[in-house]
Amino acid sequence: MKFKRHTVTAALPYANGPVHIGHLAGCYLPADIYVRYLRSKGEDVKFICGSDEHGVPITIKAKKEGITPQQVVDKYHKIMGDAFKEFGVSFDVYSRTSAKVHHETASEFFKTLYDKGVFTEEITEQYFDEKANQFLADRYIVGTCPKCGNENAYGDQCEKCGSTLNATDLINPKSALSGEKPILKKTKNWFLPLDKMQPQIEAFIDSHKEWKSNVFGQCKSWLNSGLQPRAMTRDLDWGVKVPVDGAEGKVLYVWFDAPIGYISATKDLTPDWEKYWKDKETKLVHFIGKDNIVFHCIIFPAMLMAEGSYILPENVPANEFLNLEGDKISTSRNWAVWLHEYLLEFKDKQDVLRYTLCANAPETKDNDFTWKDFQAKNNNELVAILGNFVNRTLVLTHKYYNGKVPVAAEYTKGDIILLEEISKFPAKIAASIEQYRFREALAELMNLARLGNKYLADNEPWILIKTDEKRVQTIMNLSLQISANLTILMEPFLPFTSKKLGAMLNLNEGLKWIDATRTDLLLPGHQINTASLLFDKVEDEIIVAQVQKLADSKKMNELNSTSEIEVPKSDITFDDFSKMDIRVGTIIEAERVPKTDKLLKLLIDTGIDKRTVVSGIAGSYKPEEIIGQQVSILVNLAPRKIKGIESQGMILMAENNKGELSFVAPTKADMNNGGSVK
Ligand code: MF3
Ligand code: ZN
Repeated sequence: MKFKRHTVTAALPYANGPVHIGHLAGCYLPADIYVRYLRSKGEDVKFICGSDEHGVPITIKAKKEGITPQQVVDKYHKIMGDAFKEFGVSFDVYSRTSAKVHHETASEFFKTLYDKGVFTEEITEQYFDEKANQFLADRYIVGTCPKCGNENAYGDQCEKCGSTLNATDLINPKSALSGEKPILKKTKNWFLPLDKMQPQIEAFIDSHKEWKSNVFGQCKSWLNSGLQPRAMTRDLDWGVKVPVDGAEGKVLYVWFDAPIGYISATKDLTPDWEKYWKDKETKLVHFIGKDNIVFHCIIFPAMLMAEGSYILPENVPANEFLNLEGDKISTSRNWAVWLHEYLLEFKDKQDVLRYTLCANAPETKDNDFTWKDFQAKNNNELVAILGNFVNRTLVLTHKYYNGKVPVAAEYTKGDIILLEEISKFPAKIAASIEQYRFREALAELMNLARLGNKYLADNEPWILIKTDEKRVQTIMNLSLQISANLTILMEPFLPFTSKKLGAMLNLNEGLKWIDATRTDLLLPGHQINTASLLFDKVEDEIIVAQVQKLADSKKMNELNSTSEIEVPKSDITFDDFSKMDIRVGTIIEAERVPKTDKLLKLLIDTGIDKRTVVSGIAGSYKPEEIIGQQVSILVNLAPRKIKGIESQGMILMAENNKGELSFVAPTKADMNNGGSVK
C-alpha cells in the first residue's frame, strides 16, 4: 500500500539527565535522517518527540538531588530540548508528559479502556518499604533477574537480558530507597490482560516479518514464552492520576502514559492530529533503542488495539547499544559523551558527530565509539574525501573561471558513464534509508564523493589546463554538478554542511531529492560564491584531551565509590541559611542514655541558657573525655523527644567515610559561649 503521510516518533527520553551519544546513535539520529529524507522527497511527515517526565527514574533523581520531581523535569526538559535543536534533530514538536494536554489525553485513554471493560481489577501483593512508608514500583526495587542472574535488575525490567519483569519475580529484592528487604502488602491495581490478547498481538507481529531481525526475534521470543497480564497502574504519587473511583494515591504506569505522549505531542503540534493517528493511509514508525522493544511492539500496540480507533505501527526500527571506548555507557558512572558538552567543546562540528555516529550506528549489533575513530572518520573521510573533492572543485572554478560555471563542451565515453552513475545515487541511497540501513546509505553517499575525487584525479584538470582548455571546462562542469547533487543527498545526514555547501554553490533553496537525479543543476554562467573548507582536521591534542577527560571521570568515579562522598544537595538562599541560629557552647555534663549504644545526654552551656541535648556520638566519644569541650550548637531547632528525653538543640558533627564523628568547634581558646557561628 502506498501511504499518504507519515508519523515518525523517537522514544521520549526520561527527563532525569542530559542526552548522550548512546541516545543519539540509538534512535534520535536515525529518526532524524529518515524524516529529513522524507521531507526531501516532499512527503507529508510529522516528527514527534518530547520528554518522558513520569515514572520512578524521575522521583529517584529528585530524591538524590533534594529537589522536587517537577524541578527535575523542568531542568532536563530544557537541557535536552536545547541540545537536540542545536544538534539539528528536526522534531516538528518537542513536547512533555507533564503538559496538561498529555494528562488529559492519557487519562481519557485509560478511561476509554476502563469503560470498555478491557482491564481486569486485581488485588495483589506488592512490595512495600516500611521505613519509607511507600509501595515500591518498578525502579524502586532492585534484585536478581530470574532469567539471567543479573544482580541489578529493576522491578519492571532487566537491562542486561532485556526481559520485562514483575517486581515479585526478582530474587533477593531490595528497596532502592532504603536498601532494606521490602514486605509484601495487598493493593488493588488494573491489569491489561495481555494473555487474553495474545492471538491478536501474535497476528500483528506475524504480519511484520519484514521488521529488523533483532526486533522481530525479540517479539517472537516473548510471544513464545506466553504473555502475562501487566499492571497499568502504580501506587505512586508522581504521574497521571488514575481517573476512576477508588484509585486514590495511584497513578498510571509510566509505560502506559509515555507512549500516549506521542499522541498528545501531536495534539500539541496540530489540530489535525487525528489524521496522523487514525487514518489507515498514515505510516506510523517508532524509532527506539533495544531496551524499549517490548513496550513499542507489544504493549503499546495492545493498548491501541484495545482502544480501537488508532492505527498500529508499520515499523519499529530499534537499534542495539553504543558503547564508549569499550565500556558500557553509564550515566551514573559518568561514562558518556554528553551532547551538551560536545556542542560547547566542538562548536559548529555537529556534522562530524552525526557522521561518526551514523557510520558506526549499532544497527545490527552493539558497537563502539572511540575518540580515535572519531578523529579518523573526520580526517580520513570527511576532510580527505568529501571536503577535498568539493574544495578542489570550487577553488579551480574560481581560479579558471572567476567562479562562473563553465559550459560542458563535449562528453567523452567516460563522462557518459559517469553521468549515468551519478543519476543512480538518489535511488540507491533512498533504498537503504527506506530499509532503515543508514550506515549503508551514508557509505553510498560517500561513494559519490569518491567518484568525484577519482574523476578529478584521473582527468587532472590542473595539468590539462595548459593544453586543452575545452576539456577542462567539461571536467569542471561535471565536478560542479556532482557537488550540487551531493548538497541535496547529504542533507539528511549532514544538514549543516549541506547548508554551507548550498550557499557556496549559490544553489536554489527548496531542491528536492528527485533533483539529484539531474546533472544540470548548475547552468553555464551561474556565479558561485567564495569557497571555504567544509571540514577541518581534528588534531591529536583534541583527542588526547577527550580521552583524558574520560579517564578523569573514571578515576573520580572510583574515588567516589570508595570514599562515598555524598551527592551535593541543591542550592539554598542566604535567607534559608540565616534561619539557623548556631552558637558556640560548652559541654558541662555528659552521661550515656541507658539501653542505647549511640546516645549521650549532654548538658550544654550555650551562653543563652543551659540546656539538654541528646546526641548520637557515643560511638566516637566517652562521656568523661568531653566535659569542658567547646562545640557548635544549633539552638533554634524545635525540641524533640528522644528516648523519653527532650532534646533542645543539635550539636554539629563532622563525619568521615568510616562513620567516625568529630566535634566542629572553634580552634581558638577565647571564643565565648553564646558567640554565633556563621
Ligand atoms: N523514557 C523511555 C526511555 O528512555 C522511553 C519512553 S518511549 C515512550 O527508555 F514510548 F514511552 F514514550
Ligand atoms: Zn536478566
